[in-house]
Amino acid sequence: MKRMHHLKSAFGLLLFAATGCTGTKTEPVSDQTPTSEPPPSIVAGAMPSEESKAAMLAAKDALFTRLSGRLMEAMADAGPAGAIGVCSQEAVKIANEVGAEHAVQIGRTGVRLRNPNNQAPPWAAALVEQKVDTPVFAVLSDDSAAALLPIKLQAQCLMCHGPEEQIVPEVQQKLAQLYPDDRATGFNEGELRGWFWIKE
Ligand code: HEC
Repeated sequence: MKRMHHLKSAFGLLLFAATGCTGTKTEPVSDQTPTSEPPPSIVAGAMPSEESKAAMLAAKDALFTRLSGRLMEAMADAGPAGAIGVCSQEAVKIANEVGAEHAVQIGRTGVRLRNPNNQAPPWAAALVEQKVDTPVFAVLSDDSAAALLPIKLQAQCLMCHGPEEQIVPEVQQKLAQLYPDDRATGFNEGELRGWFWIKE
């Protein structure tokens, strides 16, 4: 038993090292939580108000619209390989801006991650692991409302997230350069790509 435990923690360490985090691992939700307290978790059987649900959906729509708009603009300006640079510099910034405007915390995570910093907050981790592919609304132990909303892969995402043989060499090179641990290729159209997570 003890041996198993040791093996397990060694594996955990390896996994951590493999994410390529250079000690700046970000935990999106915990920055507002004192470190002495455990992060908030889902309260079983509780549902947020319709108002909260609508507010979280509105934040998601705003982030989706702004990200898609910026992506299309960058593709027109710089082509898909250039757009990757824009994505990598702006995606998280845009999420933070939309979050501030809508007074929520919001971000994206994936079934498999391109940017290891896009990890789900602790309350959503189990749902992500189960690859839940329908919207989930929840109340957390800190009384906040939260939502995890699936993102399906569309045709226009394939050039950067599709099967590797469908990704042009310039894009592959740029991805390898910016995301040496990229795991977010090999998705097919209609497949679950990831989630927006929102916490009020
Ligand atoms: C021009 C290339 C490009 C296109 C097209 C593209 N993405 Fe991405 N995607 C990226 C990059 C680069 C990142 C990493 C951003 C970062 O560093 O936060 C990313 C990250 C993500 C993430 C966050 C999780 C992760 O793996 O880090 C999701 C979810 C996602 N993309 C979904 C989509 C969907 C859905 C589409 C189509 C509507 C799409 N992407 C189109 C390049 C692209």
